[in-house]
Amino acid sequence: MENPFAESFKIKMVEPVYRSTREQRREWIKKARYNVFNLRSEQVYVDLLTDSGTTAMSQQQWAEMMLGDESYAGASSYYKLKQSIEDLFGFDYFLPVHQGRAAENVLFSVLVKEGDIVPGNAHFDTTKGHIEYRKATALDCTIQEAYNTSLIHPFKGNIDTDILQHVLEKYADDIPFIILTLTCNTTGGQPVSMQNMKDVRTLADRYSIPLVYDAARFAENAYFIKEREDGYKEKTIADIVTEMFSYADAVTMSSKKDGNVNIGGFIGFRNGDWYEKACTYNILFEGFLTYGGMSGRDMNALACGLREAIEYDSLETRIKQTEYLANRLLEKGIPVQQPTGGHAVYIDATRFLTRVPREEFIAQTLAIELYLEGGVRAVEIGTLLADRDPQSGENRYPEIEYLRLAIPRRVYTNNHMDVAAFALANIFDRKDKITSGYRIIKEAPIMRHFTVELEPVKAG
Ligand code: F0G
Repeated sequence: MENPFAESFKIKMVEPVYRSTREQRREWIKKARYNVFNLRSEQVYVDLLTDSGTTAMSQQQWAEMMLGDESYAGASSYYKLKQSIEDLFGFDYFLPVHQGRAAENVLFSVLVKEGDIVPGNAHFDTTKGHIEYRKATALDCTIQEAYNTSLIHPFKGNIDTDILQHVLEKYADDIPFIILTLTCNTTGGQPVSMQNMKDVRTLADRYSIPLVYDAARFAENAYFIKEREDGYKEKTIADIVTEMFSYADAVTMSSKKDGNVNIGGFIGFRNGDWYEKACTYNILFEGFLTYGGMSGRDMNALACGLREAIEYDSLETRIKQTEYLANRLLEKGIPVQQPTGGHAVYIDATRFLTRVPREEFIAQTLAIELYLEGGVRAVEIGTLLADRDPQSGENRYPEIEYLRLAIPRRVYTNNHMDVAAFALANIFDRKDKITSGYRIIKEAPIMRHFTVELEPVKAG
């Protein structure tokens, strides 16, 4: 028998978390207007709201923080980060920005104009937001298999190349670029296969359209290619990453995920012309070209965090923890997106709370139940997040209502995962008694889920 597996790190610094009573939580969530973003962190026992910016940094990263160069222009930290980006992704040009949506803002200011169409694999909400804000359309071309949560498919982040070809044929003149999100957050942290990247590249070349990656979770995607795709078992994560990015013209990156830092991002370019145009917007929105919204110490930590991101052992630790949580839920019969994705477990809320009407926000209802039951904070990836249709003003009902349990990197143990699984199992046992959800009392016109205020449809 093989030796048992354990985490690829040991813990040097700890941060307390607090348990609370159901009575306290009932009070707190009511005060938060039933929006988990309004809770204070100390009101949460296990925080699975997001894996973004919640990473525990390594001792090497903390050591790098002390070496940060805070010069306004030409800081050594900038060149350190430039070197990491060149080595890992092969991009000659890059701009630092303060986070992923800032990268979208700067790059899309160069590339997207009114009436454009941007095809992709289930664009993340800020990506879609930045496209729609410019009165353009984000067109989802993800494979249909992604929307059947019980179907096992190794690459549910893939683009349907037949659909893409059709879209390119019809709208080529209005398409500034194709975007591939690695991994695809919206369909469940699901990877894109190398073959799909190659096929999309071939189509992009045929129609002379550039290909952009949203690479927030590029390392997790590379891990899945190694584990699941023929021909990659013997390759290193570094080699896989090099090949992945060889097919892209540019990249937007939220470093708060696989960059292993708490804030930061960048844009990578192969094309000097795009870079030059983006420089103006970077100075306008983010900061001078050699810091762009990041401090020197943060750039140092990121330069190191990117190199750590491609270490096989830490990726294995991470993905196995996600699988651990998913398996605890599957054992209880709780429906989750299968196979398990990289950064999170996605519960199919419609198959869990079958008696709550969709107008009453099924996944949000489950998020609130989970908080009340175990003090666990998860997030709705459903109708609230999907916003209203910009034309009709009606709610957009996504194909699947998810409750996402996102796992911060190197932060929680599997005992914390058990707390979440136990609470969900208890709710699952009494799920038929949950028959009503919530109604909106206040909402913003775009990205409403962050600030929405709700009340229970039935008092009590
Ligand atoms: N792209 C993807 C795929 C993301 O998941 C996110 C953020 C962004 C872009 C935007 O990056 O937050 O640095 O501005 N996702 C977070 C999440 C918020 O919880 O999934 P950002």
